Amino acid sequence: MTSSENARVIGLGIVGLGGATLSMLPKFAKNAGYKIVAAADIDKEVMAAFSHDFPEAKTYTSVQDLCTNRDVELVYIATPNRLHSEHALAAFAGGKHVLIEKPMTIEIPGSIAMVEAAEKAGVFLGVNVKHSFEPRVQKVREMVRTQEFGKLRLINSWRYVDWLYRPRTPEELTPEWGGGIVWRQAPHQLDIVRTIGGGLVRSVRGMAGVWDPDRRVPGAHATFMEFEDGAVATAMISGYDHYDSRLLVFGPDAIDPSQHGGARRELRDSLAGGAEAAAAAAERYGGNRAGSAVRETPGLGGGWIMGGPTVISFDHADVSFSRNGLEVFSDTSRYEIDLQGPKDGRDGRLDTYHDAIVNGTPLPADGRWGMATLEVLLAVQESGTKRQELLMSHQVPGVD
Ligand SMILES: NC(=O)c1ccc[n+]([C@@H]2O[C@H](COP(=O)([O-])OP(=O)(O)OC[C@H]3O[C@@H](n4cnc5c(N)ncnc54)[C@H](O)[C@@H]3O)[C@@H](O)[C@H]2O)c1
Repeated sequence: MTSSENARVIGLGIVGLGGATLSMLPKFAKNAGYKIVAAADIDKEVMAAFSHDFPEAKTYTSVQDLCTNRDVELVYIATPNRLHSEHALAAFAGGKHVLIEKPMTIEIPGSIAMVEAAEKAGVFLGVNVKHSFEPRVQKVREMVRTQEFGKLRLINSWRYVDWLYRPRTPEELTPEWGGGIVWRQAPHQLDIVRTIGGGLVRSVRGMAGVWDPDRRVPGAHATFMEFEDGAVATAMISGYDHYDSRLLVFGPDAIDPSQHGGARRELRDSLAGGAEAAAAAAERYGGNRAGSAVRETPGLGGGWIMGGPTVISFDHADVSFSRNGLEVFSDTSRYEIDLQGPKDGRDGRLDTYHDAIVNGTPLPADGRWGMATLEVLLAVQESGTKRQELLMSHQVPGVD
């Protein structure tokens, strides 16, 4: 039983009621260890919709004001990437713990300031890399740790998706504000890779591709990583809305062929001019497209697990993510490990955070861990520009 089921209740303040919060809110709401006591957003319509649904929660238009609320113990920050540092520092100044959306921020000095401010205030900083807490990822990490199939050798992760052409906010289409697929999608994927591999990435050679002159933001990446112990990983995402890699995991019937190119079509036919930003804004709390960006996959509590194949090679087995959990292809046999259950990675993230606050257990995916993933994200882009491998210097091991 996790401490959140025993439940000392942690007062939660939410900052930013967009797509990320829509996917986390049901998890906070049903977790007995948390109570939503406050929320802040600069968008008055969004706040009004939230107040309607959570009349007992206090609402604010400023993060700083929310952080003066004594009932708030933990602040979940889900504002645009370029504001993460500023908002986290405001929470630490108020003596609050922080759960920050990924990436924790978009430059190393900001991440160092966040880590130091949390330590100075004596509070926790955790990063919401929820997929790294998925049962599949945790189970593979256990295999690495126990050496059940020998040494970890290779991790491969592929994803082909329509990300670039779904309605995007200006933030998401501006690289220096933390837009593009490397900042928005690769944090999950590369964090999963680091979690499985133990965290200590030695070097990175990557590239971020900007291929569409009408959307000048990275829409694809391909990355090779080597861990300190010699294990290696490759990871790629293409968001250009051609192939859909869910076909490789869920089979040919998983996707209706008539949906092909749907995101490009909608963008071209109905979202010209300002209509795209309005459609993206309508995906926030209370909007008429709310929830459309929350992608679920059958099984495992509905958790979404990056939508493409991930295969992990050991000395004596390859293990792949499957519909119901993991499929093991060992020296002698092939079998599935069914990991379906009521909890997914979001639950895992919240349970481990509750355990850290209430019982003092080490917090996985803390600020230093988030900074290490940030370093890899920056290296994907920089090594692509320089066309050379980069050595890492901010890596930390995971909490096993
Ligand atoms: N964990 C996940 O699966 C996941 C999913 C989506 C997004 N994200 C991350 O969550 C963050 C937010 O992304 P999103 O897609 O929800 O964005 P969004 O644009 O949909 O929502 C952001 C919200 O923050 C509000 N906001 C902006 N400036 C503010 C300020 N100064 N004070 C208070 N509120 C402010 C906006 O009004 C909006 O409601 C990003 O870091 C993103 O990478 C994570």
